[in-house]
This record gives sequence, structure tokens and C-alpha cells, in this order.
Amino acid sequence: MAKVKITETVLRDAHQSLIATRMTTEDMLPMLADLDKVGFYSVEAWGGATYDACLRYLDEDPWERLRTIRKHMPKTKLQMLFRGQNMLGYRHYADDVVDYFVKKSVDNGIDILRIFDALNDPRNLETAVRSAKACDAHVQGAISYTTGEVFTLEYYVRYAKQLESMGVDSICIKDMASLLTPYTAFDLVRALKANIKVPIQLHSHFTSGLAAMAELKAVEAGVDILDTAISPLALGTSHPATEAIVATLKETPYDTELDLEKLNKVREHVVVLREKYIKNGLLDPSLLMVDPKALMYQIPGGMLSNLLSQLKQAGKAGLLKEVLEEVPRVRKDSGMPPLVTPTSQIVGSQAALNVILGERYKSVTKEFRSMVRGEYGQTPVAIDDDFKKKIVGDDKIITCRPADLIPDEIDRFRRELPLNLVEQEEDVLSYAQFGDTAVKFFERRRDRKYGIDSEHADHEKLVHPVA
Ligand code: CO
Repeated sequence: MAKVKITETVLRDAHQSLIATRMTTEDMLPMLADLDKVGFYSVEAWGGATYDACLRYLDEDPWERLRTIRKHMPKTKLQMLFRGQNMLGYRHYADDVVDYFVKKSVDNGIDILRIFDALNDPRNLETAVRSAKACDAHVQGAISYTTGEVFTLEYYVRYAKQLESMGVDSICIKDMASLLTPYTAFDLVRALKANIKVPIQLHSHFTSGLAAMAELKAVEAGVDILDTAISPLALGTSHPATEAIVATLKETPYDTELDLEKLNKVREHVVVLREKYIKNGLLDPSLLMVDPKALMYQIPGGMLSNLLSQLKQAGKAGLLKEVLEEVPRVRKDSGMPPLVTPTSQIVGSQAALNVILGERYKSVTKEFRSMVRGEYGQTPVAIDDDFKKKIVGDDKIITCRPADLIPDEIDRFRRELPLNLVEQEEDVLSYAQFGDTAVKFFERRRDRKYGIDSEHADHEKLVHPVA
């Protein structure tokens, strides 16, 4: 039997889930050589929220980070998380932007693109999959896993087959909300293995306390690759601990053949970071507890920590329970979207608004309205017509692939971008996705280059926004 392979998430999802994506490149640097020596199948190192966090909070160029990691990790495959037609932003982009972003990601060092769509609408993956294949990258199609009446094994097998027919090289079950119970994991992996030829990977968050057991049952059902996090940034809203999974499978037919001594070298770097994050307040101990609420409210790890820090900053931490109870109601109203970026934010903010204003849908966010209107694609369940009418009014409902309505836009972004701030071709992609946030970063970068210190105080504030 083939051994199980491991994707280490410490450079992306582990810190995205536990410390709101605030790990800096400087924090990463000391561990990179040791990470490269372990022999992981891949290291997830980029994409997801890291790009946004670099520009918005860390005053870092995300492309420079990718090139730095690539340079220090020449042997290991680098993996990124890519939100289909949203790329790393929060709306749908035109196909020419998606094309260019995929190409630049691969050019700068990405080997594997994990591409998913929050609504599991395969039309939203088409362009990214085609572009990545054209770049000879490994394309992984990810299924956003969730629960509910319509989300049967047949539903997942059907979606996986659609992904396979698009030409993906592997398929990931993405259990962002920690909902996958061990026996369901077994059944799901077995069903996929029976129907799908490409390798199957499992990405499961630990939040509800199930993930390590789910991974073990998935292994017994024949899963090919598992996502884990090195122990100091494992568990809680992150992933099962790499060392524990490796030890579990040792000397079995599933042996990962990874060396615990080499993993311990990595651990020694990360344990220092963990202590630092606890001390500066980035690591909230409440996120480390097993939280069965995830099973009731279907809140992914990143969303939970975001809601908590958002409510805290607004002085409304006391309303967390009410907001968590409102989330499943808003989700049901809006066609049962799986909760993952950006739908987790869309449903989360609308639920928060409903609670804070004391009346449901008294005010509706622009994004929630867009989702109900079909701008993000087709929801897994059709939305009730009366509810649509209430939210969207008389505006036209969208039923085609949303990106078909978006004209090419990379040239417009290039024209808008102030030339004196551009330092590399990739800057247009930062601007396309993060607009003013990117421009402010470009200005700080320019000021730094010319030794202007005027923004320094601001930068200090940006480094530890949660603390
Ligand atoms: Co995740």
C-alpha cells in the first residue's frame, strides 16, 4: 500500500487560523532550511489570506515573501490556496486577471495550486484550472466540505467528477469548518476513491476536536495526502499536529516515512514563535480549546477568530453567542453556501449586522446582496424567491457564469496604477485585488527606499493590530 504523504501548513493556514495570518517573513526565515529538509510532499506557503495580510498589516510585499521562501526551500514543493475566480481577493475578477495571477504565481515559485470555490460552482474554477494547467503547475481542485440535507456522498462524488473532468491533478476535501466526523471521512474518502482516479487529499481543521480522528479514518479509507501543522501551531482552530500524525502511521502500511528528529528541528523554531505570539496577544488561548460550537454553527477556524477579534475591537465581544446563533439562519436564507472565504465573511457580517441592529435584514451588506443576486455563482440550494425579492429588489438575477459578465480589466488596472509607485510587474495584481490598501503599501515601500521615515509610527501600529 502506498505511504501517506504530508502537506505541512505552518507557513499559511496554521497561522491564518491561529493568529489571523500575522506571521511575518522574518518569523519564517529561521525555520525554512529545516522545513526543506523534512521531505514533505508539499509545504503550503502562500495564498489564502497571506497576501492581504502582507499588504494590509505586515507592510510586506507578498511576492517578495514568495521568492524568499522559494529561495530558502529549493527542494520542497510550494503550495498555495487560490479562491477560483476570486483569486485572493473578495470579488470575481475578469478571466485575463485570473490568467495573469496564476502565471505570476507559478513564475515566482508556486508548484501546486489548490483551487476552490466557496459555492462549489465548477464554473468558477474553469479559468484558474485552465491557466494553471497551461503553466504546467500541479492543479488541485478542492471541494468545500459542509453539512446539510443536500450535501450527500452523491453530491460530493458528482462535484469531484466534474473537477476531474476539468483535468485537475488531485482533489482535496476542504473541511475548513471542522465538520467532518471520522466515520463520514471514511465513507467520503472511500466513495471518492471508488469513483475518482486522481489522488485525494484531506484538509481538516481541528476546531471541533475531530480532525486527527477524521484523518486516521481517511487514511484507512485510502486517502493519499493529509494536511497537518507542526505542533506549536497545531490544534485549536488549526490542524492536527504533524508529529502526532507521523508517529501514528509509523511502521504501518501507511508510514509517511518522515523523520521525527527532523520535525523536531522545525518545532524548535516554531515554539519560539508561539511563545512570542502568546506574549504579544496575537495568539488568543480561547482559540486553542476544542470548540464543539463549530459542529452546531459551522464556523470555520479563520471566521471564528475574525468574528472574535472584530467584535472585540467594536467592544461587542458579549454578542458573540447571538451572532454565532444567527449564522446558520442567514446561511439557510441564502441558499446554504458552505462557509469559507468569501462566503464566511459575507454570511458572518450579515449575521453580525442582524444581531447588532436588533432586526434581521434591516440593513443588508453590499456583498450579501451580490451573493443573493447570483454574482458569486449558483448556491447549492435555490434561494426562496420572496427572500431574493426582499434583498435584491427589482435588479436582474444572474444565472450565467458570473465572470462572463466581467470584461477584461488588467489593462484598466495598469492604467490606474500610479507609474512612479510600480517596482515590478506583479504590483498590478496587488492593486487589482486590494486597491487603496496596495497603493498605501507601495507608498510606504517607496518612502522606505528613499529613507523617508514619516510612516514609521503607522507601520508599528500595523504590525500587531490585535495586541
Ligand atoms: Co483551511
